[in-house]
Amino acid sequence: MYISDQLNLKKITTHKLSEMKLRGEKISMLTAYDYSMARILDQAGIDVILVGDSASNVMAGFETTLPITLDHMIYHAASVARAVNRALVVCDLPFGTYQGNSKEALASAIRIMKETGAGAVKIEGGIEIQESVERILSAGIPVMGHLGLMPQSIHKYGTYVVRAREEAEANKLVEDAHLLEKIGCFSIVLEKIPAVLAKKVAGELKIPIIGIGAGNGCDGQVLVLHDMLGLTKEFSPRFLRRYQNLFDIITNAVQRYVSDVKTGDFPNENEQY
Ligand code: KIV
Repeated sequence: MYISDQLNLKKITTHKLSEMKLRGEKISMLTAYDYSMARILDQAGIDVILVGDSASNVMAGFETTLPITLDHMIYHAASVARAVNRALVVCDLPFGTYQGNSKEALASAIRIMKETGAGAVKIEGGIEIQESVERILSAGIPVMGHLGLMPQSIHKYGTYVVRAREEAEANKLVEDAHLLEKIGCFSIVLEKIPAVLAKKVAGELKIPIIGIGAGNGCDGQVLVLHDMLGLTKEFSPRFLRRYQNLFDIITNAVQRYVSDVKTGDFPNENEQY
């Protein structure tokens, strides 16, 4: 066995995620957009790191996910991939890089795979983007689907409220999920839909269903890192559990630093040459 094979024994693959679903082991997924955070997540044992286009919001300060470009996503994903030994790295295809036609979608996905070291791409939509998903899959690139609330379509919805409460939308979501599985997606994210609907989809499909605001019946969960760490204060949907309050912790550290500099307390004798 080659040394590289030994080192990669623990690496999470799309195949391992299916095995986890089969044995009922829940899949943990978080977003990351930079080397330092990705390193912490990987060493802490996260299964999947999503380089989400939520980078547009939490890293770049845009109101929606629409402005982020493919070049930006490649920069973030390459930084994350350099830090990761174990987790599967999945990178979002940003708005405008796959809707035009399937050749454009494939070209975008190939750039991500070639230039970042990510192991898969994620793409929002169902039957409308079938051809693009199929073409990407035919190039051997693993695809994660994304249904329910699709933030790239915010201008169509006009709001971030819970999706698929109505029967027609719920039926379409179930059909889209089956379609994505049939054409070869290895997993699907379901965002902000009723828990019973997500549970039904997870029960009907063989591929892992990862939920965000979709209840406990999913095969795994994903949150935006900045939200669960409490770096974003203003965003408080019901589904968000905050594991830290880093906004206040960092504010306190910066205030103490400012004070130490102003008073001349920093640096002291041991902190100089
Ligand atoms: O971009 C993102 O962070 C996402 C998650 C919300 C699933 O797509």
